[in-house]
Amino acid sequence: DMKRGLFITFEGGDGSGKSTQIGLLTEYMESQGYETVVTREPGGTAISESIRQILLDRNNSSMLPITETMLYAAARAQLVGELIRPSIEQGKVVICDRFLDSSIAYQAYGRNLGDAVQQINSYAIDGLMPDITVYLRIDPGIGRERISGREQDRIEAESEAFHRRVSDGYEALCRLDPDRIISIDASRTIEAIHEEIRGRVDRKIRELGGL
Ligand code: ADP
Ligand code: TYD
Repeated sequence: DMKRGLFITFEGGDGSGKSTQIGLLTEYMESQGYETVVTREPGGTAISESIRQILLDRNNSSMLPITETMLYAAARAQLVGELIRPSIEQGKVVICDRFLDSSIAYQAYGRNLGDAVQQINSYAIDGLMPDITVYLRIDPGIGRERISGREQDRIEAESEAFHRRVSDGYEALCRLDPDRIISIDASRTIEAIHEEIRGRVDRKIRELGGL
């Protein structure tokens, strides 16, 4: 049998606390002796980071929704092939800031592209889905408040209606796939959220009979 690691993704609106929680979970996993790879989307490889710059550039206001979808998928294809799949096959824990669910929420729901998004992405992920997805649920208004000091990228600068559709998209995904997606109330304290995530990840590893 092939040795197999664990693939964990984090999802949520901007400012939901993904980076904060990824840092804490990574520290915890390493303290437990797991070799952990942390990466992000769009990005995580040299090619994917170049695609990220195009995607988030506020000068690219004429980008079509379908172009946007394909660029996110292209960045994802490279990340899966170059880093995520090989790392999992080496028995590592891979923690990724955003993955396919972001494209469903932002492009299928936010941009109203519907089913095309899943179809395009089937080539990018080539059958690879996360073992656990942590969805940090927060009112879009509170999330935006938390990051109000940061410069906004092209997606963050979108309308309130867009961000409302994104959050509806995440809620639909949670209903569709409750075994994979853990929905967590991200308005609580950083430590309370971390403890809940840690508990769920420990449980998953026990269910798998260890890594
Ligand atoms: P994301 O990666 O999802 O954009 P961050 O982890 O960067 O979010 O968090 C956005 C901001 O909110 C940061 O300033 C962070 O310190 C703060 N923050 C994160 N989690 C919480 C929380 N549970 N409660 C209050 N503030 C938080
Ligand atoms: P990210 O850098 O994770 O932003 P943040 O730290 O604010 O969450 O992601 C960049 C932006 O790209 C973010 O606004 C969400 C968007 N995005 C999509 O629209 N579709 C996708 O498939 C992905 C991965 C991200």
